[in-house]
Amino acid sequence: MKVIDEPAALRAVLDEARRLGHDVGFVPTMGALHGGHRSLVRRAVAECDRVVVSLFVNPLQFGPGEDFESYPRDLAADLAQAEEAGADLVFAPSTRTMYPEGPLTTVSVRYLSDALEGRSRPGHFDGVATVVAKLFAIVGPCLAYFGEKDYQQLLIVSRLVHDLSFPVTVVPCPTIREPDGLALSSRNAYLSPDDRKAAPIFYWSLLAGKRAIEENGVTDPAQVSAVMQGAAGREGRARLDYAQVARPHDLCVPQVITSEVRLMIAGHVGRTRLIDNLVASPPDKEGAP
Ligand code: PAJ
Repeated sequence: MKVIDEPAALRAVLDEARRLGHDVGFVPTMGALHGGHRSLVRRAVAECDRVVVSLFVNPLQFGPGEDFESYPRDLAADLAQAEEAGADLVFAPSTRTMYPEGPLTTVSVRYLSDALEGRSRPGHFDGVATVVAKLFAIVGPCLAYFGEKDYQQLLIVSRLVHDLSFPVTVVPCPTIREPDGLALSSRNAYLSPDDRKAAPIFYWSLLAGKRAIEENGVTDPAQVSAVMQGAAGREGRARLDYAQVARPHDLCVPQVITSEVRLMIAGHVGRTRLIDNLVASPPDKEGAP
């Protein structure tokens, strides 16, 4: 596995691979790799000839007072995990390499960036969209792998690729969880032992919402939100930010739940902000084909 920190050097290696007709797969990350990241890399390795993993903690997507400075960084551990998962190349640029001067160009995916995480973290998705567009331009992948764990991000990146005609196929990958349901996340490292015990509460709240839709036939999104809020409220260490029903393609709240929806949840456990989501489908109406 090669480790490269300069775009020109990476491009030279990948141009050669492309000349040979090789498909380049790409897994963008902010490092602090875990089993969720590894599952994306393994999928890419199974489907592509050459796999690039990027490790870059992108300052543009952190707001003032957020955890940019304290975000976990461990290059040696990340390289070991990327290699174990089968990556061919790691692109680990410095902030100065990526942003030699503050960029004047921002990529912004309107509407999709405003709701949910976007409301709680203004500017966050512009930072994500900008760095993803830049990384796509540097790497030039055929396929790029993104986790459903960050469902809003996945939707935004898919729309960015569509709107700007990037020749990239975005591949959604399922959320990897701990045995107790907690979605793997680099930020789980911040959880104290007591917070860690409490952290699956958001997943359990999503499951309660899913049951309301799938088993109890609830079709009112407000009622499903109330079920999720009630469940989250039973954990004293958790502070809910939002628990919402969203249409899978545009994240708007449906008037009535008549087809598949995404249940979206976010909040703090102690001082750690966690997000999660789950799909839910209303039962088929009797007599429906
Ligand atoms: P990061 O949080 O490091 O996540 C990198 C990729 O791993 C994302 O596509 C994310 O959805 C996926 N991922 C994280 N946890 C996962 C889990 N438990 N199961 C499956 N996939 C998981 O997301 C980012 O970085 C950044 O915003 C980035 C896209 C790299 C732009 O800076």
